[in-house]
Amino acid sequence: MTKSTQEPTKICCLGAGYVGGPTMAMIAHKCPEIDVHVVDLNPDRIAQWNSEKLPVYEPGLYDVVKQARGRNLRFTTDVPGAIREANMCFISVNTPTKTFGIGAGRAANLEFVEKCARTIAENSDSDKVVVEKSTLPVRTAESVKRILSSHSAKVKFDVLSNPEFLAEGTAMEDLRDPDRILIGGDSSAAIEKLADVYKNWVPNDKIIRTNLWSSELSKLTANAFLAQRVSSINAISALCEATGADVDEVAGAIGTDSRIGPKFLKASVGFGGSCFQKDILNLVYLCEHFGLPEVAQYWEQVVKMNDYQKYRFSTRIVKKMFNTVSNKKIAIWGFAFKKDTNDTRESAAIYVCRDLLEERAKLTIYDPKVDIDQIRRDLAYLIAGPNGELTEVQKELLQTHVTVAKSAEEAADGAHAIALMTEWDEFKDADFDSIYQSMMKPAFVFDGRNVLDSQKLSGIGFDIESIGKA
Ligand code: NAD
Ligand code: UDX
Repeated sequence: MTKSTQEPTKICCLGAGYVGGPTMAMIAHKCPEIDVHVVDLNPDRIAQWNSEKLPVYEPGLYDVVKQARGRNLRFTTDVPGAIREANMCFISVNTPTKTFGIGAGRAANLEFVEKCARTIAENSDSDKVVVEKSTLPVRTAESVKRILSSHSAKVKFDVLSNPEFLAEGTAMEDLRDPDRILIGGDSSAAIEKLADVYKNWVPNDKIIRTNLWSSELSKLTANAFLAQRVSSINAISALCEATGADVDEVAGAIGTDSRIGPKFLKASVGFGGSCFQKDILNLVYLCEHFGLPEVAQYWEQVVKMNDYQKYRFSTRIVKKMFNTVSNKKIAIWGFAFKKDTNDTRESAAIYVCRDLLEERAKLTIYDPKVDIDQIRRDLAYLIAGPNGELTEVQKELLQTHVTVAKSAEEAADGAHAIALMTEWDEFKDADFDSIYQSMMKPAFVFDGRNVLDSQKLSGIGFDIESIGKA
């Protein structure tokens, strides 16, 4: 597990987000002899990385950052300076779904990646390994290579694909003990230089070497397969509700088949997060681009099923509450797209809140890690729709019908219903006896994650509805 490169590796990572920050913190932690500079164009984000309150909430992250920060881990806005000093540059910037032009709503927006390639080229006077850490469409490395090589003939760039497989909420465990590290490239020397970094803590047999295109495509495929499992079990949840089968029992029964396996079979209000939808839509776009419409339609159905699941949850709330939620207080428990993260990107909660606000429900939202401003921004963004402008009516609705509470109990006080959107552990341990006393009757609970003890809650008097249970 020792390094074998001649010159010491010096890393610059462009993009201090949910991937760049934790990943580089782990490299700095495990490789004290490697200098790691994490850079970002956003000065506020860098200031937060240098503060006590990191911009990313992830269990265990702060301890790792604190230990390496100022030693061999630095967060800075000096992009050119950090590139010049480095011999290995990671590109870890956002690749959101395009909202304009060709491929809008499907293709990945690669402007930030291209900008990084240009910035690296402009600020390099020595050879560098350039590592794609962002999730990218297959064959992006071709463009990255062209941009890099068109700048100067004197500097040699080797481009590698090294997609990240961490999941938010468990990022530090995933980084510490990954299932695999994937490195794609066509220079075996460059591949081994990057493998040497990981070999400081990851066994060599977990480091997979492939060609560039296989590596880029494997990342999209992995996310598509994972999301497909969630959509598959969510599709079955609808049938369970109609037939009296219990989706958790069905998932338990099929998950024992070693060919299926137990993971990613938890029925829910729908998957969220910055990756699944974006990466599947990107895959769909690629399939269309390469003249494979049947393959594109096949994968698109995974996203459509997810939209259906979110909408099904909202409509079930309205139907059960006597077909009207107008001016009824509904407590929204959880706003993040899963527990143990402050990330709300594509969270199912945003969509369900939008639907309930359209029905004029009064929402009181509580999430232990998401800031009030973020909640308000997310709702305003979704409600405004594609033109980005809120009407006066929408502005008023957001003002008068959305409150943010400081605790789950406060949110539920006087409410007609609780809608549990994120599976935060604290919700399972809430004092339901006293919550029941404080609510309007009948007191409804809509458990969008199937984490509450429905028998116990029914015993208290709640009218509880779970996913995939009649
Ligand atoms: P993010 O939005 O949290 O962070 C991206 C950062 O890049 C932002 O802080 C932004 O200011 C910065 N940036 C943009 N352009 C820049 C430039 N030219 N120079 C320097 N900084 C720049 O995004 P993220 O969640 O960290 O995702 C990054 C990539 O990793 C995406 O391609 C994503 O698909 C992929 N990925 C994400 C996850 C995840 O769980 N979030 C997991 C695996 C892979
Ligand atoms: C995902 C991939 O898991 C990770 O490998 C990749 O690097 C980034 O995308 P992430 O989106 O952070 O990670 O979280 P993940 O645990 O995959 O959950 C995604 C969504 O699916 C969440 O909303 C989660 O609640 C939901 N989900 C997951 C379910 O509804 N049921 C499940 O069984 C699993």
